[in-house]
Amino acid sequence: MKEIKVSPRGRVVFISGANRGIGRAITIELLEKGAKKVYAGVRDLKSMDDLKPEYGNRLVPVFLDLRDDKSIIKTTRLTKDVEILINNAGVYEAGGFCSDETLDSMAVNFEVNVWGLVKLTVSLIDRLKQRECAAIVNISSVLGLASMPIAGAYSASKAAVHSITQGLRGELLMNNILVMGVYPGPIETEMTKDLDMEKDSPINVAKEIVNGLIEGKEYVFPDVMSKQVGELYLTEPVTVEKQFAHFISEEEKV
Ligand SMILES: NC(=O)c1ccc[n+]([C@@H]2O[C@H](COP(=O)([O-])OP(=O)(O)OC[C@H]3O[C@@H](n4cnc5c(N)ncnc54)[C@H](OP(=O)(O)O)[C@@H]3O)[C@@H](O)[C@H]2O)c1
Repeated sequence: MKEIKVSPRGRVVFISGANRGIGRAITIELLEKGAKKVYAGVRDLKSMDDLKPEYGNRLVPVFLDLRDDKSIIKTTRLTKDVEILINNAGVYEAGGFCSDETLDSMAVNFEVNVWGLVKLTVSLIDRLKQRECAAIVNISSVLGLASMPIAGAYSASKAAVHSITQGLRGELLMNNILVMGVYPGPIETEMTKDLDMEKDSPINVAKEIVNGLIEGKEYVFPDVMSKQVGELYLTEPVTVEKQFAHFISEEEKV
């Protein structure tokens, strides 16, 4: 199998959800590693103002709301020179499959995490195919590899992201495009503020992703917990499923 290594140095990147959490850390890491330009997809254009003095015109905030088709079309028209697409933006709406909230929770998780990701990717795919070398990075989750009962609907959306990543990789086999799936465990961001467990830092995740691009990795397990899960998943996926099924939230313990 051919290896596609896509160093960000001198390249043009588009990242969704760049204003906070993992997306912000990736944006900074890319700029530090010499990216020529980073289009930062955000819903508040001012949210990147504090980084402008440091990175100047290499950082280009663009308005992107993944729930709004017009915004996706408008934004992708402005980013014709993109070489690396990072699908990072996501939401976490708690809930499983046995409650009154199931359908709402499924709809919210899928609208952004799945449909938003697909629409953005479809809008940019022809540009990426035209490049000598390109990359698509999809942020899934360890919960995309096995479902957790407290987060069934979110897990399903991230499993869809995993499958879409595999599908794209197969379809793009003849193109020089690295398709990377990223499977983080718990990371210290706004998304996990109510989760009482050990978490890794967004900076570590960002470094692992950028190194993954440089090394041409298709699977990235970017933190302590996901490295353990990843190793087990590759040989014993059912054991991971059983372990996750027994995870219960702190509220349920009391
Ligand atoms: N944190 C974790 O433990 C963890 C673990 C595994 C996977 N992940 C995944 O990692 C990615 C980043 O998560 P995070 O932890 O950094 O979460 P976060 O701090 O909550 O950030 C989420 C980002 O997504 C953006 N976003 C949400 N809805 C959007 C929409 N409709 N259109 C455009 N952007 C939207 C947010 O923008 P606004 O500020 O405008 O809302 C924000 O920039 C997500 O895909 C998440 O599922 C996270």
